[in-house]
Amino acid sequence: MRKKIVAANWKMNLGLNEGSTLVNDILKGLPKLDETRQVVIAPTYVHIGQTAAQLDGKDFISLGAQNCHTEVSGAYTGEVSAPILKSAGVKYVILGHSERREYCKETDAMVASKVNQALANDMKAIFCCGEPLAIRDAGTQNDYVGAQVQAGLFHLSAEQLKNVVIAYEPIWAIGTGRTASSAQAQDMHAHIRSVLSAQYGAAVADNMSILYGGSCKPSNAAELFGCPDVDGGLIGGAALKAEDFLGIIAAM
Ligand code: PGA
Repeated sequence: MRKKIVAANWKMNLGLNEGSTLVNDILKGLPKLDETRQVVIAPTYVHIGQTAAQLDGKDFISLGAQNCHTEVSGAYTGEVSAPILKSAGVKYVILGHSERREYCKETDAMVASKVNQALANDMKAIFCCGEPLAIRDAGTQNDYVGAQVQAGLFHLSAEQLKNVVIAYEPIWAIGTGRTASSAQAQDMHAHIRSVLSAQYGAAVADNMSILYGGSCKPSNAAELFGCPDVDGGLIGGAALKAEDFLGIIAAM
């Protein structure tokens, strides 16, 4: 059975003290989780050591990172590689987020090699995909997102794909307050699953967790997560407040 997952993407927010307080407050309010329910917290690189210590020994709440480099090591000033993240206790790496695709000019090929790096270092990849508003308005979002999934993941074996989580994040819904309707989310998640099924077979596709991201909050999380193909969320703004993030975890 596929897991339900709620993952926090802090983006470029919070100082060390604020981050520490937030994680403590989340831990205090965390409901009992089990192997079917997973929480991930992906702070900035600067927080990682601190957050790793706070989450050490806690079950079903894991440390994430927001990116990794395509190379293992070397002269890449300012970058962090997958082996370094692994050594710091990171379990999940968010890759291909639309903000990195746009502002850092990450291509599908770069995202695919970052996925390889995460998996080669025994971490799980949270692979992000999602269409801009113009594509949604043109009605070609299924082809667009299908092509992203193909370019980023189809070089993997079915065995490797077990360590990938997909996050569908329509760009027009990220940080805008404009959430996809649960019907829009369900349609796309079912489409992504059918694309996976055509390539890898239904059993593999059925086992993959597909998260929704984009203005997810406590007030809409239950409806979104109630869709048959929505297996949780990747949360930005609402992950920066313990009360909101715990409300979304409760919806899972
Ligand atoms: P948001 O961001 O929840 O602030 O819309 C989601 C994301 O970009 O992961």
